[in-house]
Amino acid sequence: MGQTADFLVIGSGIAGLVYALKVADHGSVSLVTKREISETATNLAQGGIATVFSDEDSFAAHFEDTMKAGCFLSHEDVVQLVVESGPQAVKELIHLGVQFTRRADRSFDLTREGGHSKRRILHAADITGREIERALVAAACSHPNIRIFEYHIAIDLITEGKVTGRPSGHDRCLGAYALDIRTGKIITIGARMTVLATGGAGKAYLYTCNPDVATGDGIAMAYRAGATVANMEFMQFHPTTLFHPHAKSFLISEAVRGEGAILRTKDGRAFMERYHELKDLAPRDIVARAIDNEMKKSGDDCVFLDITHKDPAFVRERFPNIYRTCLSFGIDMTRELIPVVPSAHYLCGGVRVDLGGETDIHNLFAIGETAWTGLHGANRLASNSLLEGIVFSDRAAAKSLERLPTTADPTPLIRSWDYGSARDSDEEVVVAHNWHEIRLSMWNYVGIVRSDKRLSRALRRILMIQEEITEYYWDFLPTSDLIELRNIAMVAELIVRCAQTRKESRGLHYTLDYPQRDDIHWKKDTYIRKNLVTGEPEIGYS
Ligand code: SIN
Repeated sequence: MGQTADFLVIGSGIAGLVYALKVADHGSVSLVTKREISETATNLAQGGIATVFSDEDSFAAHFEDTMKAGCFLSHEDVVQLVVESGPQAVKELIHLGVQFTRRADRSFDLTREGGHSKRRILHAADITGREIERALVAAACSHPNIRIFEYHIAIDLITEGKVTGRPSGHDRCLGAYALDIRTGKIITIGARMTVLATGGAGKAYLYTCNPDVATGDGIAMAYRAGATVANMEFMQFHPTTLFHPHAKSFLISEAVRGEGAILRTKDGRAFMERYHELKDLAPRDIVARAIDNEMKKSGDDCVFLDITHKDPAFVRERFPNIYRTCLSFGIDMTRELIPVVPSAHYLCGGVRVDLGGETDIHNLFAIGETAWTGLHGANRLASNSLLEGIVFSDRAAAKSLERLPTTADPTPLIRSWDYGSARDSDEEVVVAHNWHEIRLSMWNYVGIVRSDKRLSRALRRILMIQEEITEYYWDFLPTSDLIELRNIAMVAELIVRCAQTRKESRGLHYTLDYPQRDDIHWKKDTYIRKNLVTGEPEIGYS
């Protein structure tokens, strides 16, 4: 079964939806999403969107904070571009109907998070992402040129090299294969422009505050197709996820610390002043490592977040969702400390793109968490990611529209999916077992503190599991779980290989074997791409 569109967008978070809305007046859009349209990481974002919106703030200060948080690995041209494009891009969101929280005088209520020297984060109480997603979904669903395919998971990209059997370094993307999860049928979607906006890969780790859909699909597909992927070692661990046996990794926003909450050990001791001058508002890598260290020293399962010194009415009003959720687990945050632990949160690496959001495969774009633009460096500044999503979606849309008139319809080149002799799986346990093993290995060996030995151990296991997946993959009809497992195994390998390449500690990558930052040798980005002839990874830095 074949579909054709001018633009194929894979993913329905902020980046995918903004891109779709920007191009939809100029052509047909097929928007593919794995679950219901709003089941995205954007929808769970609590903190907000950072941009210069106050007279007391400046582009220079936002630039400086981003560079510092990123341990000076961020690309200056990209930081400048994103920071300076921010206010206009955010105004467009407001124009689309996003309602950010305002003060009594109608000015925007700007909050703070770790690493920010100024109050510059627009938010919608503590459900910013939900509000943004609501407005964008409403606009996308009412646009006549946008066709939404819910419960469809993209399997692989279709490239010219693949259909002609002549892989080259200058490949062109023609669309993608996708599984209709409800019918089990695989459809082809031919598209002039294909956009990966599938979010991050927190599900590669045992503990994550990401939604279940965060399985690195776009990154894995791009890598398999021959695109370059960069800086995958930089997985950001959010310091404060609710620690409770029944809470499925619920995030306690950094904005809680932005409004004065203090991290304490079980015996009530505040500890962040011993780690950084910004104390509880130090950049996230430092806070996560400090918590990890305190937990290891004490042997406790968690640390605690204390906002009991603030006016309870303020806490309830500013953090209604966090307050209600904690209360549902028996914790009244206005009177009691909140038990918290770090968990995998945001992937700073991704598919390498240019300033127009295009990968090194022609007509293939990557935006949002799927992309590596050069903005985040070795550690993302809080609330810069929604901003990056809208700025780069705009740029990718502009580049796509410029290219569209001279791009032929690729559909005649595309063949349908070859089912071969694949049959229904009789061994679902393989998927569940391998998934768990990958996540456990990543947590234990490729987490907040790494070492050469731990990374090698992880890689050995991941490669073994990949072999098993490959054997299994072609014998059975693909299911959503199997596709996700294959992707998570791929992304796990990319994270480990990039981590093994970087022989220093910087930002989110901390290794016992090279504990210092080394600007002389390592002020560089790692990259990895698949040699399409040998199938082997080519790893390097630049
Ligand atoms: C948070 O609310 O703490 C998350 C914000 C972010 O990751 O940018």
